Amino acid sequence: MTTYELILSRRTIRKFQQEPVPQELLERCANAARVAPSGANLQPLEYIVVNDPEQCQQVFPHTAWAGYLDDGTPQPGEQPTAYVFILTNTEIRANAPQDVGIAAENIVLVALDEGVGGCMIGSLDRDALRQMLEVPSQCEISLAIALGYPAEQPMMEEMTSDSIKYYLDEDGTLRVPKRALADVLHWNGY
Ligand SMILES: Cc1cc2nc3c(=O)[nH]c(=O)nc-3n(C[C@H](O)[C@H](O)[C@H](O)COP(=O)(O)O)c2cc1C
Repeated sequence: MTTYELILSRRTIRKFQQEPVPQELLERCANAARVAPSGANLQPLEYIVVNDPEQCQQVFPHTAWAGYLDDGTPQPGEQPTAYVFILTNTEIRANAPQDVGIAAENIVLVALDEGVGGCMIGSLDRDALRQMLEVPSQCEISLAIALGYPAEQPMMEEMTSDSIKYYLDEDGTLRVPKRALADVLHWNGY
């Protein structure tokens, strides 16, 4: 599969098989994030990987899922088997959202290349997670990435209505509308 095909095939996964993600793959994900582009090469990001099953269970209640669905939260038996937390060390840079996004996509794509799905999670109980994960005060929890082998196959579709909201179709498949290329791509000026 080419990189382009991998990128097109990626969908956010919110239901996971209860099989561990290999530790070596999690390390490669963090390494792919480490070497990502960084504004002024300041590299303010650090990472906490959680793959201990008990700790994953403790993290889960502090994550929020699929706001557009009535019941999009993974049920017991569908929950992530690993998390990567992206921290911003504010002593290096107060705020680095672009760095965070690039690192997150590197993590997700490296995982996907090995068949592991992911969900970036910005809706976090950061205070509870800071305490649980012993995050020092100079670091902000910027984003979490939940990981695991997929137990669902969401589908991308071209947006046909005005709604960007993902939804479940009659078969229970998650459908993810994307704005048409013609609506977002402007050649040689807007
Ligand atoms: C910065 C960011 C934060 C996100 N936070 C959440 C979240 O808190 N919970 C969740 O279920 N999904 C979250 N998502 C996943 C988006 O809902 C998802 O990317 C979007 O619906 C498009 O689906 P796709 O990733 O399959 O293209 C987040 C994605 C990004 C990029």
